[in-house]
Amino acid sequence: MKRIGMLTSGGDCQALNAAMRGVVKCLACSGEPVEIYGFLEGYKGLIYGNFRMLTGADFSGILTKGGTILGSSRTPFKLMREPDENGLDKVEAMKQNYYKLRLDCLVILGGNGTHKTANMLREEGLNVVTLPKTIDNDLWGTDMTFGFQSAVNIATDCIDCIHTTAASHGRVFIVEVMGHKVGYLTLNAGMAGGADIILIPEIPYDINKVVDAINKRSERGSKFTILAVAEGAISKENAALSKKELKKKMADYKYPSVSYEIAEKIQKKTGLDVRVTVPGHTQRGGSPCPYDRVFASRLGAEAGRLILKGEYGFMVGYRNREIVKVPLEDVAGKLKMVAPDSDIIREAKMLGISFGD
Ligand code: F6P
Repeated sequence: MKRIGMLTSGGDCQALNAAMRGVVKCLACSGEPVEIYGFLEGYKGLIYGNFRMLTGADFSGILTKGGTILGSSRTPFKLMREPDENGLDKVEAMKQNYYKLRLDCLVILGGNGTHKTANMLREEGLNVVTLPKTIDNDLWGTDMTFGFQSAVNIATDCIDCIHTTAASHGRVFIVEVMGHKVGYLTLNAGMAGGADIILIPEIPYDINKVVDAINKRSERGSKFTILAVAEGAISKENAALSKKELKKKMADYKYPSVSYEIAEKIQKKTGLDVRVTVPGHTQRGGSPCPYDRVFASRLGAEAGRLILKGEYGFMVGYRNREIVKVPLEDVAGKLKMVAPDSDIIREAKMLGISFGD
């Protein structure tokens, strides 16, 4: 008999349910009796002992379902060692609940912050297997996270829709894409949607270079320009500041987000009409795309296999087209970013895409 605790933590994404289903199906197919304890709303459920026992029926029909059947929440890693408002030691509480339920292991699905806590729990002696979720694809140790391809599809659809209206009007359009401080989502959706300018955090932009690229298009007779701008895009000027200086500068930032600042500057410098579209959380919503369904199911099955073998302390990831197990201590606390000198950036530039650098 295996007793498995499961939780989804951090911002949700597509294919969380598909991944959990993968784990449970693999365990069920092995013939090993299992009990699944689903902790609700991320680490909060584990801290406060808020769980639901799950049966096979809970995992039926969820392959295509977005969101997470367990709910999710953000419990920042830096607050984990701080007692809650009632003085509860959160780490101790998580350990107590794990031991009280006599769990064999925890299956934790999450992104960067989640992996820091998962690794801490491993260091505290708990058995942990993790799965890499996030639309940002910024998790170190895996070439791909599930949720990413679904989000690329949605952001691309948004740029596609902008294309048709852009063709009718002589305007500059900015589509602001999620991704936190990393540009994978913007880069991929931008290229897939045929954006003319792509601004990502890893390549700080010069607004004059952005304007040059727009003017060049106008001179060539193009009526419109489309920019895919990462929510974390940063100007060269701001990138040169220290963390403290930037924080001070941003304290009286008057724009809702970076795209609106860029829009205002483009409008002033070119006299062109500029519109901003922010698809926001739609990028995390809806059904997982077929790629993510397959990918998350494969990762889930491999996690199930590790559990059956009693191999703990790993994230199941994907590297060089193979599903691999990556030690949690290697993953925790590291960010995977787009390398400005990578092939894809070089090729995008060869296609005439400007990065504003
Ligand atoms: O990490 C996933 C993500 O969607 C980021 O792309 C985005 O910056 C952030 O979460 C938004 O967080 P929240 O849902 O807490 O607003």
